[in-house]
Amino acid sequence: MDSPPRAPSAELATEPSANASASPPIQHGTVGDITTYNPHLGNRLGIDNAPAVTGAAIDGRQVHVTFADNAQRTYAAQWLRHCCCCTECGNPADAIRSMTVSRLPPDITAATAEACSGDLVLTWPGGHRSAYGSDWLIANAYDDNARQRRAAWRPVTWRSELAEHFPTVDWAAASGGGTGLLDAYCKLRDYGIVRIDGVGTDPERTEQIANLIGPIHETTPYGYIYDVRAEPVSKLGAKTGMAQSPHIDDPFHYSPPGIDIFHCLVNTDIGGLSTYVDGFAIAESLRAEEPEAFEALTTLPITHVRRHPGEINMRSRGPLIRLDEFGRLSGIRYFDRALAPLDVPPDDVDRLYDAIRAYSARMESPDFMATLRVEPGQGMLIDNHRVMHGRTAFDPASGRHIRLCHVPRDEFHGRLRELSLRLDPANHDLYLPQGS
Ligand SMILES: [Fe+2]
Ligand SMILES: [Zn+2]
Repeated sequence: MDSPPRAPSAELATEPSANASASPPIQHGTVGDITTYNPHLGNRLGIDNAPAVTGAAIDGRQVHVTFADNAQRTYAAQWLRHCCCCTECGNPADAIRSMTVSRLPPDITAATAEACSGDLVLTWPGGHRSAYGSDWLIANAYDDNARQRRAAWRPVTWRSELAEHFPTVDWAAASGGGTGLLDAYCKLRDYGIVRIDGVGTDPERTEQIANLIGPIHETTPYGYIYDVRAEPVSKLGAKTGMAQSPHIDDPFHYSPPGIDIFHCLVNTDIGGLSTYVDGFAIAESLRAEEPEAFEALTTLPITHVRRHPGEINMRSRGPLIRLDEFGRLSGIRYFDRALAPLDVPPDDVDRLYDAIRAYSARMESPDFMATLRVEPGQGMLIDNHRVMHGRTAFDPASGRHIRLCHVPRDEFHGRLRELSLRLDPANHDLYLPQGS
């Protein structure tokens, strides 16, 4: 940290309770013994050119706010009081709020409301003063239009043709940060997969690819970084030359690996092709063509299992297709070879088998499968809660060598939001699929 540390609590105590000053610079500092990673920004996001607040009116327990582009938005008074992020209502050292719901009088309303230097400024009975930047008010509005805007993101679903126009970025651009990195992030978000060219074959680069999107998540079967190459004796199918049909990695975890990072060091000319299937494309196909199967796969649980007798017995239970509150696809969880005995009411067994069969038929269909050769020096980032991966068989003596590690999806989405806030603020707060 080369920015000067903030003064400890004495300074905080003397800060005015209103947070109406211009956007403060982002800096880390210390409060007592604590290093602050949440510099105090109050109720503002630092988005340039947001339409200013030009008027405000109290209407019972609601506050109507007018903006410079003539838009009008309404906020509940208790919602505004609860969301006050001034230094009295929260601790900037850790971003923990002290204004909690139980402290919030349910019938509270503002005493005064006015537009002040482009902000909304309210005073409350008792004299507390709150200020809200217009960018914060617009981004956090919760009327129907605002919620529909945040829910507007949709995946770009794909089938076999993706191999002809594969989403690809260049290592030099992505690792340079800024718009090059945002391009990589958006392709991974929208397609569930992105190829990175020009990474090189230095094994040290595997971790650097992962760190584009977050810290590596160590797992029991794979460790920190896993070397996928044929070995004479292997516990895992990955370490043979056998074909691997498309699958989600480790669905028996409550929270399966998020983003798979594959880094190709050596490939082979015979076999060893990579296969990818978009689980969201299958789900949308079922929703349109086989609604009974879609209904079964979104409501009945399946169980995935991995057991090492006498050592560990891992199980997770949930629907193969997870939906969110809007009915949008949230995640896929399916590894046919790790499926436990079905465990649903007797009348549901046959229809659940039929539904799984309908899903599997698409997963194995060439129509849904994008097949390509991953070249040495390329990296591949795959959303393991959406896109299934597999490979064709290869000669175990060929020396094919792929390195593999995982990064949690929330780490990736967390970085995506912060980079978007800087470079594409209108889309920084979209509701993204939270996984399977
Ligand atoms: Fe795998
Ligand atoms: Zn406050």
